[in-house]
Amino acid sequence: MILVTGAAGKTGKAIVRQLAAEGHAVRAMVRRAEQQAELRQLGATETPVGDLEHAADVSAAVHGVRAVYHICPNMHPREFSIGKTIIDAAAQAGVGHFVYHSVLHPQVAEMPHHWEKMRVEGYLFQSGVPFTIVQPAAYMQNVLAHRQRISVDGVYPVPYSAGTRLGMVDLADVAAAVAAIFSAPESHVGGTYELATDERLSQTEVAAVLSESLGRTVRVEQQSLLAWEAQARAAGLGEYQIETLLKMFRYYDRFGFWGNGRVLTWLLGKPPTTFTEFVYNYFHMN
Ligand SMILES: NC(=O)c1ccc[n+]([C@@H]2O[C@H](COP(=O)([O-])OP(=O)(O)OC[C@H]3O[C@@H](n4cnc5c(N)ncnc54)[C@H](OP(=O)(O)O)[C@@H]3O)[C@@H](O)[C@H]2O)c1
Repeated sequence: MILVTGAAGKTGKAIVRQLAAEGHAVRAMVRRAEQQAELRQLGATETPVGDLEHAADVSAAVHGVRAVYHICPNMHPREFSIGKTIIDAAAQAGVGHFVYHSVLHPQVAEMPHHWEKMRVEGYLFQSGVPFTIVQPAAYMQNVLAHRQRISVDGVYPVPYSAGTRLGMVDLADVAAAVAAIFSAPESHVGGTYELATDERLSQTEVAAVLSESLGRTVRVEQQSLLAWEAQARAAGLGEYQIETLLKMFRYYDRFGFWGNGRVLTWLLGKPPTTFTEFVYNYFHMN
């Protein structure tokens, strides 16, 4: 049995679906009872409801599993504390393999959600629990948050300059790589794997791929940080999340954010999905 935390989120659902499809028994931990049915449909055999900030819930969730796949809720202000709680629980329960869903370049202190993951990685090294760490780049799926504006208005809005270069990864490739790790756990213990591609697309190039695939002009539109912030606040996003995302956008604008595709190619046994393939699959196959 593999415990997957944060299972009802975007990442969690992709991981649960893939692990279950490959024959693993999955315990999907969710926060709310109404999320259980969907996780069952994705193939989870057990769907405990619990709060990752409550040590008793976490201990109950890790009890009896052979492995843990830990996904912390996105931009959580207490990611380190949550990580510590579940790593301690895994050590206590004698879990044989702990795989942590980190992020590409956790070393970047200017992005608090990266830095928190760096601290969790450090705690894991010292825990004595056999571990593997995966460090995914930004997901291609994030672009789909704007699918309405892209398809209807022909606009791709971004809160950084059009020249900002990002290397994105398909979440489906991340899930397939994670399943490969769980198919031969012993050989991956101690590994830290960057899950990225070789692409470094400017936002203008992202818009060009969208234009080509949709057969209509899609132009990139830089949104000011002030406008983005007002929109995020109106949509009810929390203050910590707003501050963290603003820091991330400033960092992206200044330095870009990309990795290298060699490790993911090795784990998948084939080159990772390109953004062009992803867009084609999404807009033409769905
Ligand atoms: N997005 C990217 O491009 C990217 C790239 C690399 C790494 N990552 C990392 O991937 C991770 C997952 O991101 P995501 O966007 O998939 O997450 P998400 O969609 O925000 O999902 C988080 C899930 O955790 C649940 N949750 C929140 N607080 C909880 C608590 N206290 N106890 C138990 N469950 C709780 C949420 O439940 P509710 O539905 O009730 O809120 C939600 O189902 C993050 O750590 C992120 O940094 C993301």
